[in-house]
Amino acid sequence: MIKIQIPATSANLGAGFDALGLALSYYNYVEMEESDCIDISSTDEVRVPEDENNLIYISAKDLFNVCGKKFDGLKIRQTNNIPMARGLGSSSACIVAGLVGANTLLGNPLNPDEIVDLAAQIEGHPDNTAPALLGGIVTAVFDGKKVHWVKQEVYTKLKFAAIIPDFELKTEKARACLPSEVAHKDAVYNLSRAALFSASLLTGKFENLRTAVHDKLHQPYRMELIPNAREVFDIAYNHGAYGVYISGAGPTIVAIADENNTYFAGKMKFSLDNAGLNGWQVREFHIDNNGTQVISE
Ligand code: HSE
Repeated sequence: MIKIQIPATSANLGAGFDALGLALSYYNYVEMEESDCIDISSTDEVRVPEDENNLIYISAKDLFNVCGKKFDGLKIRQTNNIPMARGLGSSSACIVAGLVGANTLLGNPLNPDEIVDLAAQIEGHPDNTAPALLGGIVTAVFDGKKVHWVKQEVYTKLKFAAIIPDFELKTEKARACLPSEVAHKDAVYNLSRAALFSASLLTGKFENLRTAVHDKLHQPYRMELIPNAREVFDIAYNHGAYGVYISGAGPTIVAIADENNTYFAGKMKFSLDNAGLNGWQVREFHIDNNGTQVISE
């Protein structure tokens, strides 16, 4: 069996809706080998589809088809640390695992660019799939067929606290609440902040992040779907976060804090519990600059 490590991802980063995303030091693992049947299971208590509806399986089969290779089935073992439907890229991790697994089994017929494209075609947008594959912070434009992207590695002294609630929010629901049109001034509001975000993150101008994470395309609408989100934002800023945003489609909220902001997660958890928000857990991560790795072949 080959074994693959895939990072969680945090997309949008505030204003960069469907365009910006970064990989986090939080991993799923997938073991895979060719088989003449479908044999899928979890190594943990997380229930996953064990038939042809499994997203890792679907993605792997897609890659076999694209390469014109005969496909009979797969044996897949999933270790599912990334919580599902929480805005941390669990679906993208499955897609990327399936593609990288199948590509490895076939002797790497596709290059990383082609896998980035295929992953975005399956997911519909590239802001989780591209950083899951490539690592770092990824700026991406998907033209419907091809992803035009830049990956930048990040070595700044920041930590990313994922504040994860005990409820799910499906991406379809979190996209359905968005308006189909926005005002020109709101578009300018967002594009200027999205550009400010990556430039500030990469150059260490962290004081800009609080302005850069504001947006008018998705967060105001999604806030309504995430009970107590406003309180969580306030608590994170009270503890010195540089910037706080809804991760991907939510409901997880990410707070960016200085490496020297000691016990940030512990202080957050204490304040959340004091505010009666004890269904939220806080996990601290760093940016993963490596992306998906085949750790044994
Ligand atoms: N950019 C996507 C969204 C990320 O906000 O809907 C979630 O898949």
